[in-house]
Parts: sequence; C-alpha cells; structure tokens
Amino acid sequence: MSQVKGHERVIARGEGAYVWDESGNRVLDLPAGMYYCNVGHGRPEIASAIAAQIETLEAYHTFQSYANRPAIELANRLSALGPVGQGAKVFFGGNGSDAIEIACKLARRYWDALGTPSKRTIVTREHSYHGMHGFGTSIGGQELFRAGYGPLIPEVARVDKHSWKALEQHLGQVGADTVAAFVCEPVMGAGGMIFPERNYLNQVERICRENEVLFVVDEVITGFGRLGVLFASDRFGLQPDILVFGKGATSGYIPLSGALIGARVAEPFWEDGGTEIFRHGLTFGGHPAACTAALINLEILEREQLIEGVGRLEAALKAAVASLDTSANVVEIRTGVGLLAGIRLENPAIAEAVCRQCYADGVLTRAGGTDSDTIQFSPPLVITTEEIERAVEVVASAIDECGGGA
Ligand SMILES: Cc1ncc(COP(=O)(O)O)c(C=O)c1O
Repeated sequence: MSQVKGHERVIARGEGAYVWDESGNRVLDLPAGMYYCNVGHGRPEIASAIAAQIETLEAYHTFQSYANRPAIELANRLSALGPVGQGAKVFFGGNGSDAIEIACKLARRYWDALGTPSKRTIVTREHSYHGMHGFGTSIGGQELFRAGYGPLIPEVARVDKHSWKALEQHLGQVGADTVAAFVCEPVMGAGGMIFPERNYLNQVERICRENEVLFVVDEVITGFGRLGVLFASDRFGLQPDILVFGKGATSGYIPLSGALIGARVAEPFWEDGGTEIFRHGLTFGGHPAACTAALINLEILEREQLIEGVGRLEAALKAAVASLDTSANVVEIRTGVGLLAGIRLENPAIAEAVCRQCYADGVLTRAGGTDSDTIQFSPPLVITTEEIERAVEVVASAIDECGGGA
C-alpha cells in the first residue's frame, strides 16, 4: 500500500477492449478490469437499460415473499441455462465473495437439514482463491490472505491442487461424514492462471458423488463465456451441486453475483409443506438494476456471438503467447482453455516492471498469482486477434527490456 500511495492510475473512460486514464492515455485492457468486462466497456445499451429500470423502480428487496420482475426473469433464465440441471434455484449477491458465502453456508445448512450436521468441513485446493469475506478468506488456499486475523472459520481443509487422489485420500482419512462440500475453480485465476490437469475436474466430481460431498464449482471468473461456453462446467462436462458466479454476469456494469443451486440441494427448503428455511439474505441481492444489466449482458453475448468467438481468439492467444517461450526471463507459459493465459516471470519485481512498461506502451496488464509474478491475460471477449498479437508483442519487448535490470 505504501508503494501505490501517490501513484494511482485513475481510469476515467472505457470503450470496447480499451480504457482511458485521466491523463488521456488509451490502453488495451488485458485483464478486462478484473476478469469481469466480458462484453467490453462503454455499452450504452446496458447503461440506458439500467437507467430505465432505476427510473421505474430503483430497488426492491427479495426477502420473504417479496420479489422484483428482473430478479425473477434472470433467475428463470439462469436456471434454464445453467449446467446444474433442471429445477435449479438462484440466490443472488453482489460480489463473488457474497456468492461463496451463500454456497458455503448453504452446503453446511443442507446437511444439517438432512439430519447429518456433522458434515461441515469445506475442502478446497491449495492456491485457490474464493474471495475475501469470512468463508472466502477461511477456505482460500493462499496463506497470505489468511494471515493476521486470528482464528478464522473452523472446519476447512485444503488438498493438493492437481491431484484428485489427494481429495480421495483426504476423504478417506477424515471420513466423508465430516465433509460438507468440495469447492473448486475450473481454472485458478488469482492463484496464477492454473489450468486443470486432464480429467481432474471430472474425477473430483466423481469422488464427491461417491462420497456424498457437495460439488461446488466457483465460476466467478470462468462464467459467462470466458472459456468459449457459457460456463466452464459446460466445457468440462460437469454438473455442480452449486455453481457460483459473479464478475462477467453483468460484465461489471453493476455488481451482481449468485449461486445456482441444483434441485437436490434446494429440495429440503422448497419441498411442499416443508419447514426448513435457509436463513440467509442480502438487502441488495437480486437488485433489479443489476438483474436488468445481467439480462442485457446475456442478450449481447448471444446476439454478437461473443462466446462462439472465443474459440478463434483462444487459438490466437495460445499461439501468440507461446512465442514468449524464447525469453530467458519467462519461467512458465500457462495456457489451456478459453481466453485466459499467464506468463510467469522470474520474480514479482520483474513482473511489476513489465506491467509498468506495458502501460507506457499502451497495454494495461496485471501481475497476479500467489507470488504476483504472473502476467495475466483475460481480455474482454470483444478483443480482436490483431489486438491480442499486438499486446503480446508489447509484453515481449517489455519482458526483454525489464528482465535484466529488475
Ligand atoms: C474464483 C473467484 N471466486 C471468488 C472471487 C471473489 O469475487 P469478488 O472479488 O467479486 O468478491 C474471485 C475474485 O477474483 C474469484 O476469482
């Protein structure tokens, strides 16, 4: 924090894949803000729909029997689209962290409602990132985010990020009757753009099924088109019990997140004549302006075939980024599926210097990953192959320039 003091880059405007800072510099937005701006910046269509909604009704909460029309429409739309299967319910939040909170509380509460309250532990992967609220901080797999707060939420565990056998062994050791859910990101973004090994996700889903552990897929960065399908679960053939989404749901025009909840998990709370209640709610969960933005966002993704376009862009990104392999300062190139890539450099100082140089050359990049040593590519889906190639050229020359001196 002391280092950024006085060096703020104030972003003032955006259009398509570009943003402008207050000094008028135009830069290509390679991280799409923070993995959220899927349909690109500066869409008047979304802005005016939000304004029209606010003029009609600025907000109405969704507690108890209250609802608002955009929230109902979006819930119906997502439940029909989503890979969690028929009869899905949706619980809305604002940030991804809200949705993780919903998923973890609901997972514990589900087993409690079924009369097995001992199933409480939430298992995640090392280096995972699930946001910054109570549960997100407690279950996340990066030690630096957990340090300094004293005791966090108990009954959480972490297993190796690539080994499905590690999950199987863990359940064998602690007993699946103590475990509520396994939560995983299909591609680990904040952990450094780490792609799943072949069959890993299908295997962990199988293990969850066999052990009666809820399978929770955190699609906060992979949802809404980033992997060339609406949800990563579609691409990997997964059927989560709970799917967590955020960011790209509205492309960031207004915060909206949520948890898509499969029929099995919803059932104890929704069955006719039932008395179980999941006592959770957020004043602005299901905010009508945010739900309106999400509905238009879905329309744009569909109308402009942006998700289909990711297939072509994915190949271009992979090919362009592969060319960086020749640089001595590049430790590892991470590519896999979708419009995501990471370039791991020697150390965070080089990564920071590269980001600074790229910005001066018109490309906004971010150094992420557990050690902040990985240059992140997660551009808006409206980026072109030429822009990807140019961005990689800029990153390449910045790496060459900054590598030796940092
Ligand atoms: C996989 C994942 N889950 C959850 C979150 C938390 O989302 P938010 O920052 O909107 O609370 C993030 C944020 O980057 C994320 O990448």
